[in-house]
Amino acid sequence: MRVCVVGSGGREHAMAAALARSADVVLAPGNPGMDGFERTELPPERVEADLWVVGPEGPLVEGLADRVRARGGLVYGPGADGARLEGSKAWMKDLLFAARVPAAASRTFSEEGPALEHLRTLPGPWVVKTDGLAAGKGVLVTTSRQEAERDIKAKLSGRAFGDAGRRVVVEEALSGLEVSVHAVCDGRRAYPLAAAQDYKRVGDGGTGANTGGMGCYSPVPFADDEVVGQVMERAVLPTLHALRKRGVDYRGTLYAGVMLTEDGPKVLEFNVRFGDPEAAVIFPLWEGDVAACLAAAAEGALSDQHEPRFSPDAAVCVVLAAHGYPELPRTGDPVEGLEDARAVPGARVYSAGLGQGRQGRLVTAGGRALDVVGTGPTLGEARQVAYRAAACVSWPGMVMRRDIADAVGGEP
Ligand code: AMP
Ligand code: GLY
Repeated sequence: MRVCVVGSGGREHAMAAALARSADVVLAPGNPGMDGFERTELPPERVEADLWVVGPEGPLVEGLADRVRARGGLVYGPGADGARLEGSKAWMKDLLFAARVPAAASRTFSEEGPALEHLRTLPGPWVVKTDGLAAGKGVLVTTSRQEAERDIKAKLSGRAFGDAGRRVVVEEALSGLEVSVHAVCDGRRAYPLAAAQDYKRVGDGGTGANTGGMGCYSPVPFADDEVVGQVMERAVLPTLHALRKRGVDYRGTLYAGVMLTEDGPKVLEFNVRFGDPEAAVIFPLWEGDVAACLAAAAEGALSDQHEPRFSPDAAVCVVLAAHGYPELPRTGDPVEGLEDARAVPGARVYSAGLGQGRQGRLVTAGGRALDVVGTGPTLGEARQVAYRAAACVSWPGMVMRRDIADAVGGEP
């Protein structure tokens, strides 16, 4: 089987490595740090393949899966109808409410007056989200009502996030531990993958700006099989069935961002693709034929033989980001020590955003540049491997957190 992996980040590198155990892989477009993989600049729908696996949400929301299916291609990833789950938070909240999925209470606004009025009736902390896609940066959680008010104004006026912010969702604040639960769906059935925890802030101890994710680990001790089972029963399966009722045949990943509250798990959001960097810890632990599982999901034909099995090991991912990330990442810094990092036993290095510099040297080319992953029998050992490998790599002003998987269950 020949699989076209669509996308160019660390998530796609991790997927490609797992798919390559049983399939030929071509990345469209991938990036120059993805050694040993075929890459193409062709538009994905023009690539020759037996299966397309779409990494990022953008192309899904824009209908890439529909276009490939229209040409007779087999795609793992929802059509534009299903991708609305991530493309519009207001639509998602509506669907969750109809399906009785536990989630934060919320209201949607497109005008400032009613939004501010509603805000004043809430006790706080306050949560304001853009309706549309904002690269993981459209959410404000604050204990300052003034900040929430300013944020509503900036979003609705289009100043902060353009059209993505012209509708906002004002939401009840939840508290608890957060976990990412991914499920592989074939339209009717869904199998869960190993749970992961993501570290969203740029600084140690959960400080500083929000990012796309600075690291993660799996498995998650406080999200055992029972918790994952609850998330499947109360959130993922009801959502899949509600989609079906609305005529959406959802074949792809449902990734539930869940908060484990005193009243049980509640959904913060659904994403329509694998998490980045969560994929960097999920795929190395996923045993068996990943390509066959995703192909069966794409065909609407998942069965027991495809049920994902996971290694008893743990994995920890540390993201290495460019100087200035997330505000103003600098590109073009030469990367040293990649080979040494790869040689650390139990380590894997995924290229999230590397480019080709002078004389064939790899340089930073985006915000998050590398995902360095350690595996081992315990989270502690996996963590040591990840940081030992990360210590081999350097470039001027490299940004990384030093507390990934440090105090598990603490502040991510
Ligand atoms: P989202 O993009 O919806 O996952 O939000 C990004 C982050 O904001 C989440 O991972 C949470 O840490 C936080 N967050 C989102 N919604 C809420 C909420 N209702 N209450 C508290 N924190 C939230
Ligand atoms: N790491 C968070 C996300 O992929 O949405």
